[in-house]
Amino acid sequence: MRGKIIPARPGEHNLKDYVRARKEFDFASVEPEFSWYTTGRVNVVYEAVDRQVEEKGLEQQVALYFESGEKQEEYTFGRLQRETARFAAVLKKYGLQKGDRLGIFMPRSPELYISFLGAARLGVVVVPLFEAFMAEALKDRLGDCGAVAVVTTPELYPRLPLDQLPALKHVFVVGENVPAGTLDWHREISLVTETPPMEWVGREHPLFILYASGADGKARGLVHVHNIMVGLLITARWVHDLRPGDVYWCTADPGWITGIAYGFLAPWLLGIPVVVRGGRFNAEDWCATLAKYRVSVWYSAPTAFRMIMSGGDELLSRYDLSRLRHILSVGEPLTEEVMEWSLAKLGQPIYDTWWMSETGMNMICNYRCMPIKIGSIGLPFPGIEAAVVDDEGRELPPGRIGNLAIRAGWPAQIRAVWNDPARYEEYFRHKPWFISGDAAYRDEDGYFYFQGRLDGVINTSGERVGPAEVESKLEEHPAVARAGVAGKPDKLRGEIVKAFIVLNPGYTWSDELAAELREFVKTGLAAHAAPREFEVKESIPLTRDGRVDRRVLREWVLFRQDF
Ligand code: WT7
Repeated sequence: MRGKIIPARPGEHNLKDYVRARKEFDFASVEPEFSWYTTGRVNVVYEAVDRQVEEKGLEQQVALYFESGEKQEEYTFGRLQRETARFAAVLKKYGLQKGDRLGIFMPRSPELYISFLGAARLGVVVVPLFEAFMAEALKDRLGDCGAVAVVTTPELYPRLPLDQLPALKHVFVVGENVPAGTLDWHREISLVTETPPMEWVGREHPLFILYASGADGKARGLVHVHNIMVGLLITARWVHDLRPGDVYWCTADPGWITGIAYGFLAPWLLGIPVVVRGGRFNAEDWCATLAKYRVSVWYSAPTAFRMIMSGGDELLSRYDLSRLRHILSVGEPLTEEVMEWSLAKLGQPIYDTWWMSETGMNMICNYRCMPIKIGSIGLPFPGIEAAVVDDEGRELPPGRIGNLAIRAGWPAQIRAVWNDPARYEEYFRHKPWFISGDAAYRDEDGYFYFQGRLDGVINTSGERVGPAEVESKLEEHPAVARAGVAGKPDKLRGEIVKAFIVLNPGYTWSDELAAELREFVKTGLAAHAAPREFEVKESIPLTRDGRVDRRVLREWVLFRQDF
C-alpha cells in the first residue's frame, strides 16, 4: 500500500506555486482580502454574511440548502443577514453582551446556524454542544464556561441539568410546544422590530469555545477567536479548491470543529453555498444528496465513504454524480481500500487532510497540484511548519516515529483553554512547537504519515472520546470499583471504546451487566462514548501519581486481543 502514488491533477495552482508558497507564503498576505484590513472593523459575521450582500452582490445567492426528512429550505445570504441580525436583537433584549457565552445544543437546522452567527454579531461567544451529549456532559461544559443562555429544541431540553447550572438565565427553544419557563425562539424572532448594529470586536476576541476531550480529566474548552477567518479563507481556496459556482457539502456536524470551520464559516467567507442535511441518513441518502444539490466539492470522513461503499455499485449507478470534482477526507485514517474505491467508482482520488480541534484549520493536506502518496496525510499547508519531535522536543529525521508537532503561531490556533491555563501550556511544553498528541513520521520528500494518537484520546468513527470522562462515569455505577478505558483498533470505526473494569464485591459479570453499563454511559454522558467492549480485571494499572496508566492499557488492547 505504501509507496503507491497518484499523479497530480490540473487545478488552479500547480506544484511550482506550492513550492514557492512553501518558501514565501505569509498569512499576512491574506489579510488584505478582508474588509477589516481597510476599515479596521472586525467581525467574522460581517465577512461571511453581510459583506457578501453589501459588497459582493450576493444578496440573492443561496448560502444554505437545508434538508431534513420532509423539510427543505433555502437561505440566501440576504436572508441570513436579516435573520442573524434579528437573533442578535433577541439576545440583546435578554441582556446578553459581548463576551457572554451562549450554548447551542440542537440538531443540524437553519436555526442553529442563525443562532451561531446571530450571537457572534454581538460579540457573544458560542459554545457548540453535540446533540448526543447527555446531562453530565452538558453540566461539565455549560458549567465550566458559565453560559448565560442556551438554544435548544423541545426534544433535547429535558437533558439540560438546569438546577446544576447557576449562571444559566435563559433557554431559547426552537420548535413547537416550547416547555414552560423557556423562550420560544421563533416567536421572539417575530417580535423584533429593530436590529442592533454589528458589534465590532478585536481579531483576538473569542468567537467560540469548543469542548474537546483530552486524555485526562474533563473536556477542555478550546477558545477560538475571530482571527480564525484568516486560516479558513485561504485553506478553503487552496485545500478545498472552492471557486465561484461550486456547491459545497461538508458532512460534519457543527457540534465538532469540522462542522463549524468548514461546515459554514470557510465557504461563506468565499460566498459559496453549502448543503446541510439533517437527521440520520443511509447510504442512499448520501448519494441522493450529492446528486440533488449537484455538489461539486465534498468534505467527509472515511466512515461515511465506507457506508456508501457498503451500498454497492448498483446504488452509485442510479445517481448522477458528474458534478463532483473534488473530494476530501478528515478525522480518521483514509485507508487504501477507500481510496481505491473512489478512484474506481467516482473516477477521482480523495484528498486527505489532517488537523484537529486545536488547530482550527487544515494543517497537513493533499493538494490537487501534487502527487498523492497513498497512506500519507500529505504536506504542510504553506506558512505552516510541521515536524516530528521526540519527547524532549528535538526534531527527528525522516523515517522516525515521534510526536507530530506544528510550529506555534498560525492564525487559526486556539488562544486558550477556558479556565485552564495549565492545560493550554501543556500543548506548548516544547517551544517553539505545539504538540498535537498524534504520532507520525515523515518521509524523505517531506510527506507525513499518521501513526495513531499517543495520549490515549480515542477516535471512534471520527468522534473524539476522552477516556477519563468515560472512566469516571463508569465508576459512578455501583458495580464498578475502578475503570480504565482505551481505544481498541477496529476495521470499521478506526477505534472502538473498550473498558477494563474492576468489579465491586458482590457483583458478577454478565451480559446484562455489560448492557446496563453501556446504557449508563450512553444516557449519562453520550452515545458515542459508550464502551462497545468490556473486560473484567483484578486491577487497573496506575502510574506512580495514581492516574490510569494509559500506556499499559494501550498494550492490553493492542496485544491481548484474545478476549
Ligand atoms: C484527531 C483530532 C479536525 C479534524 C476532525 C477531528 C485524528 C484528524 C486525521 C487524518 C487520521 C486524523 C487525529 C487528530 N485525525 N485528521 N487525516 N487521518 N487521523 O478533530 O475531534 O479534534 O480530532 O483526529 O488523531 O488528533 P478532533
